[in-house]
Amino acid sequence: MSDGGTSGERLREAAFAAMENAYAPYSRFRVGAAILASSGEVVTGCNVENAAYGEALCAERVAVAAAVAQGLTKFEEIAIASEADEPSPPCGSCRQTMSEFAPDLLIRSYARNGKLATWHLAELLPEAFDMNHLRGRP
Ligand code: THU
Repeated sequence: MSDGGTSGERLREAAFAAMENAYAPYSRFRVGAAILASSGEVVTGCNVENAAYGEALCAERVAVAAAVAQGLTKFEEIAIASEADEPSPPCGSCRQTMSEFAPDLLIRSYARNGKLATWHLAELLPEAFDMNHLRGRP
């Protein structure tokens, strides 16, 4: 089911637990995320939808924002859990947000049956825009 090792297992469980709190009455697509900070702390997020559909927040970005609000900005890996039959990759906006803090973050995504897909962020978001580009230093 999972070969994520000890930290991977802990993150997987936290991501599925967070998924239970997802607020997704419109899409019915519940997502949970759990991010491991370099400090060892795990911070979770879930998707939060809104009657104004475009205001929906993704689980990954909620997790990153919550971690940053706790003073955590260095990350090792993230687990994503959804109720889909296949592991769900992070959306483009979440890739960009994660890249700000961890350009090659290890991403493990689990389907509801436990099926796992693993990526490194740099392969999902090559040529990422970062602060160096703002300064003219690609
Ligand atoms: N969603 C996430 O939480 N993470 C992703 O990476 C993809 C999409 C959420 C947003 C929305 O609430 C629902 O899934 C359907 O798109």
